[in-house]
Amino acid sequence: METAPFTVAIDGPAAAGKGTLSRAVAAQFGFGHLDTGLLYRAVGAQVLSGRDAVEAARSLDREALEDPALRTAEVAQAASKVAVIADVRAALLDFQRAFARRAGGAVLDGRDIGTVICPQAEVKLFVTASAEVRAGRRLAELQARGDTTDFETVLADVKARDARDSDRAEAPLRPADTAHVLDTSDMTIEDAVARAVGLVEAARS
Ligand code: DC
Repeated sequence: METAPFTVAIDGPAAAGKGTLSRAVAAQFGFGHLDTGLLYRAVGAQVLSGRDAVEAARSLDREALEDPALRTAEVAQAASKVAVIADVRAALLDFQRAFARRAGGAVLDGRDIGTVICPQAEVKLFVTASAEVRAGRRLAELQARGDTTDFETVLADVKARDARDSDRAEAPLRPADTAHVLDTSDMTIEDAVARAVGLVEAARS
């Protein structure tokens, strides 16, 4: 039997650990997971190939989200740039809201899930960590994939995206009023997952 919709909104800055937390929460409760950053990355990647951002957002195809090339730092910056465009955000809204209310529960992670996409989400988390900690984690991920970038470059990248994501007029990055703020700077991933799972369990009972 399929259970009723239940939405977990997980927001936060780049490389705060939203993806790891979201996947763990989704696996724990059998919920679907949507990494909404991939939507903006897919649009950003198409802009890098010369397409119009709004057109790309309006005709986005789910298969484009599977492309491993969306994980590069270049695409991340392009995503952060297209994400300031109101018509791009509007074109991606319905898909995200429909996913959030799917039967059986959903976890969405991004920047504006608790504030704009799903203000009625049953659980809202704002996951953060210092820019240095986030850059260190991102560097380890990139190096594991064979990238030879250095800490200073990754830190500058994280800070540039923080500024663009937080200072934009449309759906800026900020915690929803009712979000639980989780600073993972000094937490292990296991601790962070346990906190998130506990919050979801409490909201479901
Ligand atoms: O989560 P990410 O690093 O994959 O996101 C890439 C960019 O997409 C991010 O810098 C800003 C944008 N984004 C957004 O504006 N809103 C979201 N819900 C998710 C991502």
